[in-house]
Amino acid sequence: MFLSTPFSDVIDRVEGTLASPDNVYERHLSAMAEMYEDAEAVAAAGDPVIYKVYEKKIPELAGELQWCMSVTLPGKIGREYYMTKGHFHEVRDTAEIYLCVRGTGYMLMETEDGQSKALEMNPDVAVYVPARWAHRSVNTGGEPLISFCVYPGDAGHDYGTIETEGFRKRIVEIDGRPAIIDNRPSS
Ligand code: F6R
Ligand code: ZN
Repeated sequence: MFLSTPFSDVIDRVEGTLASPDNVYERHLSAMAEMYEDAEAVAAAGDPVIYKVYEKKIPELAGELQWCMSVTLPGKIGREYYMTKGHFHEVRDTAEIYLCVRGTGYMLMETEDGQSKALEMNPDVAVYVPARWAHRSVNTGGEPLISFCVYPGDAGHDYGTIETEGFRKRIVEIDGRPAIIDNRPSS
């Protein structure tokens, strides 16, 4: 049974906002401090906002679609670019589409069995995140990295694995350019 009634909203491609979000949150560095490689740089950074999310409130049902705007701000902690926490979907067999509308960066993805993939994000690039791939937005540019995200209504977020294990890859600045490096040996 579908509970939603038709609606629309307006995306601001410059700010990354929705005109009428039902929920807005900001993630500060303190909420993900241990995810960065350089603890000294984390301590020296204060507690900046790393990213913001503007969400519509949709029933968490398989037949529905969640949608939101994801805004990762520009910046680095040490040599590591600002990024989202990243997650698997709680319901593993659920995919997601990100449509980048502003900025430059990567969608960093990996599976539980050890595959990794980083796809470039630029305006008008749409990225398909398949089911069972954890995903993290990484902003390697000088302006906000903004995407419109759509995913199944019941997908949910599982942050646990990434919080304890991290991603296998990191995206850092080396010689003034983004580089994708190993975070830990594959087991
Ligand atoms: C939803 C999704 C995005 C992220 C957002 C913030 O499934 O992938 O809307 O939730 O980019 O990132 P996280 O959730 O990793 O903190
Ligand atoms: Zn997701």
